[in-house]
Amino acid sequence: MWARSFLGIVTLVLVVQDAAAFKAHDFKTCSQSGFCRRGRALAQRAQEAKSSWTSPYSIEPTSVVLEEGAVVKAGVKSSLYPEINFGLEVRIQEDGVVRVRMDEASGLHKRYDEAASWALISNPVTSRSVKWTVGKKDIRAVYGTKKDIEVVISYQPLQVTLYRNGKEQVVVNGQGLLHMEHFRKKPEPPAPKTEGSEEQTVIEPPNPRAWFEGDKEDDLWEETFGTWTDSKPKGPESLSVDINFPNHGFVYGIPQHATRLALPSTKGESPTFTDPYRLYNADVFEYLASSPVSLYGSIPLMHAHSEDSTVAVFHLVGSETWIDVSHDSEKSTQTHWVSESGILDLFILPGPTPDEVFAQYARLTGTPVLPAQFSLGYHQCRWNYVSSEDVRTVNKRFDEEDIPMDVLWLDIEYSPDHKYFIWNEKTFPDPVEMINDVAATGRKMVVIVDPHLKRDSSYPVFEKAKELGVLVKPKGGEGEYEGWCWPGSSSWVDFFNPGAWDWWKSLFKPYQLEGGAWSWTQSTEDVHIWNDMNEPSVFNGPEITMPKDNVHHGGWEHRDIHNINGMLYSNLTWQALAVRSDPPKRPFVLTRSFFAGSQRFGAMWTGDNLGTWEHMAVGVKMVLANSIAGLSFAGSDVGGFFGNPDPEMLVRWYQVGAFAPFFRAHAHIDTKRREPYLLASPHKDIVYSILRLRYAMLPVWYTAFRETTVTGVPILRPQYIVFPKDKNGFDIDDQYYIGSSGLLVKPVTQKDVTETNVYLSDDQIYYDYFSFATYRGTPKGKHITVPAALHQIPLFIRGGSIVSTRERPRRASSRMAYDPFTLRVALSKDDTAKGDLYLDDGETYTHQQGQYVWRQFVAEKNKKGGKGIRISSTDLGKLKPTEAVEGAPGLTTYDPKNVYAKTLEDRNVRVEKFIVLGLKNKPKSVKVEETGEELAWDYIPGAASTDKKGGMAATLIIKDPKVKITSDWSVLIL
Ligand code: NOJ
Repeated sequence: MWARSFLGIVTLVLVVQDAAAFKAHDFKTCSQSGFCRRGRALAQRAQEAKSSWTSPYSIEPTSVVLEEGAVVKAGVKSSLYPEINFGLEVRIQEDGVVRVRMDEASGLHKRYDEAASWALISNPVTSRSVKWTVGKKDIRAVYGTKKDIEVVISYQPLQVTLYRNGKEQVVVNGQGLLHMEHFRKKPEPPAPKTEGSEEQTVIEPPNPRAWFEGDKEDDLWEETFGTWTDSKPKGPESLSVDINFPNHGFVYGIPQHATRLALPSTKGESPTFTDPYRLYNADVFEYLASSPVSLYGSIPLMHAHSEDSTVAVFHLVGSETWIDVSHDSEKSTQTHWVSESGILDLFILPGPTPDEVFAQYARLTGTPVLPAQFSLGYHQCRWNYVSSEDVRTVNKRFDEEDIPMDVLWLDIEYSPDHKYFIWNEKTFPDPVEMINDVAATGRKMVVIVDPHLKRDSSYPVFEKAKELGVLVKPKGGEGEYEGWCWPGSSSWVDFFNPGAWDWWKSLFKPYQLEGGAWSWTQSTEDVHIWNDMNEPSVFNGPEITMPKDNVHHGGWEHRDIHNINGMLYSNLTWQALAVRSDPPKRPFVLTRSFFAGSQRFGAMWTGDNLGTWEHMAVGVKMVLANSIAGLSFAGSDVGGFFGNPDPEMLVRWYQVGAFAPFFRAHAHIDTKRREPYLLASPHKDIVYSILRLRYAMLPVWYTAFRETTVTGVPILRPQYIVFPKDKNGFDIDDQYYIGSSGLLVKPVTQKDVTETNVYLSDDQIYYDYFSFATYRGTPKGKHITVPAALHQIPLFIRGGSIVSTRERPRRASSRMAYDPFTLRVALSKDDTAKGDLYLDDGETYTHQQGQYVWRQFVAEKNKKGGKGIRISSTDLGKLKPTEAVEGAPGLTTYDPKNVYAKTLEDRNVRVEKFIVLGLKNKPKSVKVEETGEELAWDYIPGAASTDKKGGMAATLIIKDPKVKITSDWSVLIL
């Protein structure tokens, strides 16, 4: 968190008051980082040399081998260092993804090559059907169902290009910036002059490599930043590579940065930022709302997009990485990636649609986990609820006010001296009773467990880690690394060490372990976990983290694995919770730090945002960026972590939060209490209605989660994903669609707003979710102005969608399991609509054995009777049980009569209301087709569009149709 607080000599309050703003001097810029500086200088020389620049790296034609016909292996040489050997390996995976790996062959040391083992779900399968042709100048492969993709590996200079229909999509080393700094011996210092030796002018021979590497060595062997010196025992080993996206004007991804979704340029003409985007997981105090500075997590995945195609690259390195982005025209993007260590392990995802890119990435790193239902509800957190009585009071207040909430959180102050797992006996004398009291109201608790362990011999968790020898080691590899964090002097478990895994998992068992080892007996299965500070945050470390020369399992330096570190911690915690119950229940773990693959285990949030409008706005963009990088389960602290938002801001923040997959209010210890019930009217009523709206929409969120768990397509979908051919939408990142529901939302993130602008991409009717006002898009796209006063959320249903909600107010999602549904049928301009609804027990894994209900609702012109509209429900489980992308824990088996479905049927879970929007005529009768039963209904005629605010949809409300959610049925509107 903050360097200052480690001093331990000031009170926390003083620290907070003293904290100014973003402390730029705590973090390196590119010019302060040796390898980044070298990488950028290389790019600069190339730019100055223009056409005379050529990459020194080339393939040795005689070394090319086709292993089993499918894997290209070749030796690579750099003309600068002919004595050094590099090995290249290129393969095309079964789904068309191209994997390019390059390593130094038999170098002085080994480069880190294990990032894939943490991030990938399995070793990708190489295509056996793709045929490579080895030529004199290059190696080529043509593939794809239409034979439209071609990969060309050129020998001199080494270059890998992916074409589609003859058009360049991705070019690796097109600018000639590829550079793998090889391992070398540290030069001996010059011999000291002996007495009497004559002064001689030594004429240095000209350096033939200076055109490429620069004329002097730059921080190759050690590097100082502030008061820290990073010894580099293996010397320089950085890796630079340029990746161009010709014909693709927009790039997205590489979270986490506080910036726009379409990444602004960092180089070229008038760049938005002067530094490259940095990926180096860091605890950045009061981060800026617009900056390329690295934040808590890193996912080295970048999408490139154009009207014609979407492609992506995933560069699987765990070390610090800087990425420059520039656009030479609106049509093309150049990027330059410089990493401190590791091998080149680059995946080129050919797309060509966003959905295919998501599937390709999901096949590599997995799909998001299907969360427990409760975790999609509202989470109430602050630093800190100070006692068990405090917890009980807050819980009670929600009930008294009749507002829903699913989870109450405890931050670090529950533990004495920040010895996590241990309760402060004075303030939390009865933890299990407290948890049970909360659970009795249908809610859960989330308790924080941070990765730093207080170095205290009376702390059993630290003592055991020490005894097992699983703590991270300082440079040199002897002893235990000691740094400063909340508890004072601390050490960190090395989760790269398998010796730590079983022990860590055992800690979370809420019962006494056999043999008497320590576990969290003062807990229950209703407690889930928050993993914070896992970048890791070290208050007295360089850049508020661990020294790079610390040593992990296998002898790897911290620099090699820094960006992966946080993911391993929360993954292990997730696994610990997964094995604590029998039968297993879905765990919930929130992590601050993340890497590619984190989506398999839980949720993330955007860290310590500020209570400002800028932070509220950028939080939306950050959540979108995380979503496209696989991590859909994301959100920002509602209210802003720092500061005391005024009621208007708080209301707007709740609107933002209610439309994020992860919805949690959180606040710094120094802020005033701001639970929703403390607001006065009208703000309080508005927030209550937002909370109820979130709960009504839980079926939408859960259904969207089901989809992402099997397809990898994110829950929040910015315009370019939904309308990939509409270039007007490529730069829009303040509105988005929710799953495939057809819901389009634009949260307001500015003060004093009464109306706002929303972009509609297509020639379709959009219905205001609340007022049923209609707006008509056009084939070329259209901006509309919509009402957006404080109590109004710009939320629309796209014509052609059927949205399922549950509208009985309840105190928690657990109380909604058997509630009836309302279906909003928003007819398209062609009188059709479609939607799906997914339900399971929300708690166990029985859905993986077919225990679920998955319905498709369709509205269409009534073919049978010739007139009217027919709305029907069919069993999607029967239709497409195996939709999952490979490797996803898909819903592979399905029994329509499964126990879960049967329970809903027995409890008569039904549709209690249809709201049909956009009928062209008043119906004469509404009935259930199968039984012929006439249904009661009301009809409010529509009104044509009169002004820019749009028309009003004709609305038919069908009351209590009594059709079961588990059955096939059809309702006729005649
Ligand atoms: C930093 C986290 O980002 C914040 O959410 C938390 O409240 C504090 N650590 C204290 O645990």
